[in-house]
Amino acid sequence: MKTLLSETRIRSAVESLARQLNEDYQRRPLTIIAVMTGSIVFMADLIRLLHMPLRVGVVQASSYKAGTVRGKLTINAEMMPDIREHDVLLVDDIFDTGHTLTEVVRLMQELGPTSIRTAVLLHKQGKQEVALRPDYVAFEIPDEFVVGYGLDYQDEYRNLGYIATLEPSDIA
Ligand code: IMP
Ligand code: MG
Repeated sequence: MKTLLSETRIRSAVESLARQLNEDYQRRPLTIIAVMTGSIVFMADLIRLLHMPLRVGVVQASSYKAGTVRGKLTINAEMMPDIREHDVLLVDDIFDTGHTLTEVVRLMQELGPTSIRTAVLLHKQGKQEVALRPDYVAFEIPDEFVVGYGLDYQDEYRNLGYIATLEPSDIA
């Protein structure tokens, strides 16, 4: 395993993202919806730096994947507050192909929010298969499988404070 983003670098990127959000939304009430499970650490750090009146909810998106291969996507939106006529910010750990966030945005739009934007911690370069572009991106990263700071490989490594790339020998 090799460190890609240190705790210090993550901290300052999350701080500048929060500054940007505080600037853009000012004191308008905001509903943050975090896509579980990968975004838990990112969301926890981000929301404590935001100053507007804030509600927090979660949706679960799972793609039944085996290791690093993507499978069929299911979304559970039962643990989410009512977003009708609310400004919504969807928060996810990583924008890879973009299918997950695209599907979640589509689902949210049916619920009649005032606005909907997306923020991701990581944006994997050159992997996108969708038209959607996240409104806020903390880091552009190369096309490598990463873990830590909420991101997992087969449900492990989420508790690392930094982000590391998994090497083939780690996966074997
Ligand atoms: P997408 O639908 O391809 O954009 O990928 C969405 C989901 O796959 C993300 O929310 C992550 O949960 C997971 N994912 C994609 N790339 C990685 C990675 O490098 N490490 C860990 N999880 C990943
Ligand atoms: Mg995810």
